[in-house]
Amino acid sequence: MNTHVDSTQAAGLNWLADRRPTRSIAVAGGKGGVGKTTVSANLAVAIASQGRDVMLVDADFGLANVDVLLGLHTRYNLGHVIKGECSLEDAIVTGPHGLQIVPASSGMKEMANLSEAEHAGIIRAFSDLYHRVEILVVDTAAGLGDSVTTFTQAAHHVVVVVCDEPASITDAYALIKVLSRDHGVQRFQILANQTRRSGEGPDLFQKIERVCDRFLNVALEFAGSVPFDDYLRRAVQKQTAVVDAYPACISSIALKNLASKADKWSVPQGARGHLEFFVERMVGTRMGPSTVLQ
Ligand SMILES: Nc1ncnc2c1ncn2[C@@H]1O[C@H](COP(=O)(O)OP(=O)(O)OP(=O)(O)O)[C@@H](O)[C@H]1O
Ligand SMILES: [Mg+2]
Repeated sequence: MNTHVDSTQAAGLNWLADRRPTRSIAVAGGKGGVGKTTVSANLAVAIASQGRDVMLVDADFGLANVDVLLGLHTRYNLGHVIKGECSLEDAIVTGPHGLQIVPASSGMKEMANLSEAEHAGIIRAFSDLYHRVEILVVDTAAGLGDSVTTFTQAAHHVVVVVCDEPASITDAYALIKVLSRDHGVQRFQILANQTRRSGEGPDLFQKIERVCDRFLNVALEFAGSVPFDDYLRRAVQKQTAVVDAYPACISSIALKNLASKADKWSVPQGARGHLEFFVERMVGTRMGPSTVLQ
């Protein structure tokens, strides 16, 4: 038996040992404009910059804008993949640090209205890629539409972005209520965004926790605070992730802290860690046996 392991093989084994199952994180928020796209794009870029294989899926079919935020030119999107007009591979664009981005198509019909064949097509498309993705980050739309609940219920971790204003708090609560009551999501990471004083994030978290504890059966964790930051707005103008454009500014530091934390979130017990699992869960509730992966 050849016991010799050359350096390339050793590097390969180290890489495998360091790799963990694909973990999926959905970023939601209920209310529009709270910072879901900002958080998901920067979270994905920051984790990718730490050397992970990250995929960012734009699941905001109404107002897809991850590509605009990161200044990317896209030819195809998830809509073309579903219609069979291109492969998922063709639709993926490479962003900073090798981040793989799947653009959404604006105005695409809701996932709930896709046919079984289309569901099966998405599952197949994603399952070909699972060995290339360690962390999947999904940016979702505002509101409580089907695309939000479908993508969110499939993810291992759900980050709820909240701002300290009454509408954001009520909408976050409504989202948590619907996801826990109707979609089996029981754990949530609460992220306070656009905070303007120290202590605002933990106070906001307590407000939400108090009302959730009273009326819902859910477990909330405080994921941290991202301060309101003009540098973040400047980065948007430059169509660059703030964590790359201004790495030392306050919002970048907070977003990189969130990325380090999220990189340590494991696949919850009992859940499987493959991309096809994510997609199966996403569409599974409406899928018949004929569409199960061969
Ligand atoms: N921490 C922050 N500091 C300053 N500006 C911020 C911060 N977070 C987000 N913004 C700004 O707030 C606006 C809305 O952000 P973003 O588009 O990420 O929100 P969204 O929740 O994805 O919105 P939508 O519901 O429309 O998808 C953007 O102009 C963004 O630059
Ligand atoms: Mg958005």
